[in-house]
Amino acid sequence: YGGGSGKVDYVFKVVLIGDSAVGKSQLLARFARDEFSMDSKATIGVEFQTRTLVIESKSVKAQIWDTAGQERYRAVTSAYYRGAVGAMLVYDITKRETFDHIPRWLEELRAHADKNIVIILIGNKSDLEDQRAIPIEDAKEFAEKEGLFFLETSALNATNVENSFNTLMTEIF
Ligand code: GTP
Ligand code: MG
Repeated sequence: YGGGSGKVDYVFKVVLIGDSAVGKSQLLARFARDEFSMDSKATIGVEFQTRTLVIESKSVKAQIWDTAGQERYRAVTSAYYRGAVGAMLVYDITKRETFDHIPRWLEELRAHADKNIVIILIGNKSDLEDQRAIPIEDAKEFAEKEGLFFLETSALNATNVENSFNTLMTEIF
């Protein structure tokens, strides 16, 4: 982990969005600190964490913002999206409604964020294959139609977490 020392060439703000309990905060914990918690509490308000990556010999600080999926705990929408150059749109592969709500999140993103924002669709909890409700092909098709990057991840076993943040950061860069 390259946080802390040395100069930073770029700072990129990335926002996490999606329904409550899809695993936004645990994806961030995995990426920023290589940690995971099964009894993660619902986020209230806004939190952010950073991690510095090296992309093409430049030091790039990812400043990742995390807010509540639950409406009543959410941050002020316009402030949350302000200055964001990347977004992770997260659903839970075992919960149909979290995928069905993706178009709504996309609408909010397109209404409030910069029109050039880079978006990646994330199907989290890929470790729960036996409880899968969303076929990977459905998500791929949706992502292609909407012009989004797409990956399935597991914050629990760390599958594709690095890959998803790296994909986003490299594309922004
Ligand atoms: P809000 O803050 O309410 O919007 O929820 P959130 O999207 O931040 O969800 P959070 O990260 O708190 O995770 C919700 C629950 O899912 C917790 O019990 C996590 O431990 C669990 N969880 C998160 N990621 C994974 C994963 O990849 N696999 C499994 N099996 N569980 C996960
Ligand atoms: Mg959270």
